[in-house]
Amino acid sequence: MTKILTKHFDEPKLHELETYRRLGGYEALKKALGMERKALQEEVVKSNLRGLGGAGFPVGFKWSTVPPEDKVPGPRYVVVNCDESEPGCFKDRVLVTRAPHQLLEGLLIASYVIGSKDSFIFIRGEYQNQYDILEKAIAEADKAGLLGDVRIHLMRGAGAYISGLDTALLETMEGKKAWPRQPPPFPTVAGLMGKPTVVNNVETLSMLPFIVREGGEAFAKIGSAKNGGTVLFSVSGHVENEGVYEVPMGTKLRDVLALAGGVKGGRKLKCVIPGGTSMPPLLEKDLDICLDFDAIKAAGTMLGAGGMIVLDETVDAVEVAHNIERFLTHESCGQCTPCREGSNWSERILHRLLEGKGQSGDVENLSRVGENITGKVICALGDTVGMVTRAWIGKFPDDFKKRVPNG
Ligand SMILES: Cc1cc2nc3c(=O)[nH]c(=O)nc-3n(C[C@H](O)[C@H](O)[C@H](O)COP(=O)(O)O)c2cc1C
Repeated sequence: MTKILTKHFDEPKLHELETYRRLGGYEALKKALGMERKALQEEVVKSNLRGLGGAGFPVGFKWSTVPPEDKVPGPRYVVVNCDESEPGCFKDRVLVTRAPHQLLEGLLIASYVIGSKDSFIFIRGEYQNQYDILEKAIAEADKAGLLGDVRIHLMRGAGAYISGLDTALLETMEGKKAWPRQPPPFPTVAGLMGKPTVVNNVETLSMLPFIVREGGEAFAKIGSAKNGGTVLFSVSGHVENEGVYEVPMGTKLRDVLALAGGVKGGRKLKCVIPGGTSMPPLLEKDLDICLDFDAIKAAGTMLGAGGMIVLDETVDAVEVAHNIERFLTHESCGQCTPCREGSNWSERILHRLLEGKGQSGDVENLSRVGENITGKVICALGDTVGMVTRAWIGKFPDDFKKRVPNG
């Protein structure tokens, strides 16, 4: 299978500048700096690169919404989102650990296109090891004169899931409480300190050296329609071989599962959460679904950030829903009432079901609470709070019914 990001992962010292350069690293940056910024942006549009932090937004289009310097003079920024707090996702950690220079090269290419002289990497606080790796890589690149006139700043998060959402992340960077902003304006128009800001995920930016080197068309050809290139899946749960797998966009779910060695112990599959715990699960009958942003959406769920959790037949859907809802209740920022109150309410009902104290009407109530959250809040975390429990009830109604005595 075609590999882009993990192609050289067998090289033990890939994290060092010398090894990265020996394998052709930073040649793409050199090429990019010799090109017109507009032409580079067009290559990215042609590549069909989608944002790999969760939303799948077309990257070239996002960049095109940054106002030009003659219309909005002054600084503009690129921010790397390395918050990676979605349960089930660990691919950014692997990318930074194994290939920090691949990310830095991508970031420098993006900084050139956007015109950012101060670029930031926002990294989750728990990733101390990865912070140290990046700090060292930035110093190496700086010493080698690769940063040019760009300063790369490392900033650490303080452990809030919501800080991964781009506008909450910007609030955090400004030293405020991580409350999502209500767009418009979008960050590309008014982002960090009110200046035009592009926020992109680690994996997204790490794709840029390949796109510059090989061209947008070559990248687009690897993936499926409107979903260029490859994608990383962090596969965990009941599989033989947990790990990060890189596959072309549009690969079947069945094939990703096979790469991870299939369901552990040969047990029967209950379901697969395709993109991190916030996403509705897929069933055995869905194994032939192609994994790209559009096909998976048509199947009623989301690719998210590729945090694939495989669950076998021994798993109880009520326990899973409770686990996820407890996490979301803890992480709700509290800004919107439906999310703040609804998550807590749902968690309490689910807890009651788990304790064997379910009351008639509980399952219907869970669905109703969910309906009253989704679409009535500022951010996608709130939407998820409303969606997750309904999705699990919809897929596994018997697991829920069983929990209501005489229900
Ligand atoms: C609750 C929540 C948490 C998020 N966490 C992350 C994260 O940890 N990393 C990330 O790249 N994107 C995260 N996102 C998505 C970002 O808001 C944004 O879409 C992304 O950083 C844009 O980069 P991309 O276009 O390269 O994907 C999160 C979104 C939500 C709603």
